[in-house]
Amino acid sequence: MSGRLAGKVCLITGTGGSMGGSSARMFAREGAKVVGCDFNLEAARATLDAVRAGGGEMVSLEPCDLRDPAACAALVALALDSFGTIDVLFNNAADAHFAWINELTNEAFAQTLDSEVNVVFNLTKAAWPALQAKGGSVINMASVSAWITYQALPGLAHSAGKGAVLSMTRHLALEGRHHGIRVNSLSPGLIETGPTRGLLAVPEFAGPMIDKIMLGRPGQPEEVAAAALFLASDESSFMTAADMRIDGGTTAW
Ligand SMILES: NC(=O)c1ccc[n+]([C@@H]2O[C@H](COP(=O)([O-])OP(=O)(O)OC[C@H]3O[C@@H](n4cnc5c(N)ncnc54)[C@H](O)[C@@H]3O)[C@@H](O)[C@H]2O)c1
Repeated sequence: MSGRLAGKVCLITGTGGSMGGSSARMFAREGAKVVGCDFNLEAARATLDAVRAGGGEMVSLEPCDLRDPAACAALVALALDSFGTIDVLFNNAADAHFAWINELTNEAFAQTLDSEVNVVFNLTKAAWPALQAKGGSVINMASVSAWITYQALPGLAHSAGKGAVLSMTRHLALEGRHHGIRVNSLSPGLIETGPTRGLLAVPEFAGPMIDKIMLGRPGQPEEVAAAALFLASDESSFMTAADMRIDGGTTAW
């Protein structure tokens, strides 16, 4: 076995999506045994096929809805039955409603918290006993929306959700420290992915959003996956309770 994640069992959520799929492919190329999941069955299978076609090792559960604790238990069971352990948990999957406060319904607000916060709690809780057994790395997908607001983004619910993910990361790091569990978060800025590609074609959105990026362009999924790979690997062994901003300088000015 060779590679920066050689032999590590890495559970990644939302592997049917842009950053989850990119991470699954990159982690597998670095020698990880990948456990994926998504509630989008076809997209999840496409990633599974791509990883296996590239010679990587991966199993996947789809459809899997992480809002359901029973689905999270089934996903952990798949990881343990397939590979015997969990070394890395990358809580990447999330879904959000975007609306200004007058249009944001109570249901949409609650659904966003369910899809951004509860999914992280549900799966981390299900995986915790396995992580406690021999230590590991948990990576939570936060966002620059946990740190700043964008003029052009009606992100009230999303900011609440990602703010919670950021602060949960700190707390989980505290609880994990006695068991060799490191817990860190990623805060990407605007990344060109399935959910943002259409919006980037709208000048009223893309203009102010890209103006906020020092590097003058949106990020690519691989640029976030590379940071996740670092946090998953032992190269980040002295990092816990930290947040990595992959935002092209967005939050610096
Ligand atoms: N795209 C951006 O600009 C950006 C910026 C900052 C943070 N993020 C965060 O990065 C992560 C990945 O985003 P992306 O842009 O790759 O999105 P994406 O929609 O391409 O991927 C997310 C995947 O997660 C799956 N998913 C969502 N909720 C699920 C659930 N409850 N159970 C199972 N699967 C579920 C979706 O089906 C999808 O395939 C998200 O947490 C998102 O909030 C994105």
